Amino acid sequence: MENISIAIDGPASSGKSTVAKILASDFNFIYVDTGAMYRAVTFLAIKHNVAFSDEQALAELTKSYPITFKPAAYGQSVFADGEEITQAIRQPDVTAAVSEVSAHGKVREELVKAQRQLAQTGGIVMDGRDIGTTVLPQAEVKIFLVASVEERAQRRYKENQEKGINMDFEAIKEAIAKRDYLDSHREVSPLVQAADAVLVDTTGMSIEQVVTKIKAIIDSKGF
Ligand code: DC
Repeated sequence: MENISIAIDGPASSGKSTVAKILASDFNFIYVDTGAMYRAVTFLAIKHNVAFSDEQALAELTKSYPITFKPAAYGQSVFADGEEITQAIRQPDVTAAVSEVSAHGKVREELVKAQRQLAQTGGIVMDGRDIGTTVLPQAEVKIFLVASVEERAQRRYKENQEKGINMDFEAIKEAIAKRDYLDSHREVSPLVQAADAVLVDTTGMSIEQVVTKIKAIIDSKGF
């Protein structure tokens, strides 16, 4: 496989990170979970008592505490401000506030810079909301993953149970729908399918089927 960049965007719990991790591992590419970076800034805001509405202070926080990743057995561990925050950034308090934090242009500016640096070498699978439109507009392959809200809520519910996070199904569904709305309606880099992205609806598909489909799309582009 050539050292291409693969951008995978889509709404919350559409399966982006699961398939991105598998693709990165199969191709021996670097995997970057940009959602984890916005979650890390949200975690830092809670830790340092910075208001989610304070754009300038959040941007300073982003500059002061670089977010780093380390490959782990499956996926990667996330670190910032001297501690591992892999689990902490998945907790409901972070999830509930991350859309507000990620809507700030100055926070995005800082993180997009860091994301482009991580992608410099190529050979990358990056997932998020604005990778194909803003972060890596030159990416050779762009995928836009969607699935029904019902199915995404079911996936997140199962994932939470496995991680020991307790949140009832209806609350998850509501939180996902709210995040969809906020992520798609913000002014800076809203969640939108890039004109040259391929839409993949994963409703009713297994992870293996989605991976196979994306590999076929990559193949069809001649890579
Ligand atoms: O993929 P995720 O659920 O971990 O992302 C968390 C939030 O971060 C999501 O609700 C919107 C924001 N995000 C973003 O604005 N841009 C990205 N490239 C990735 C995530």
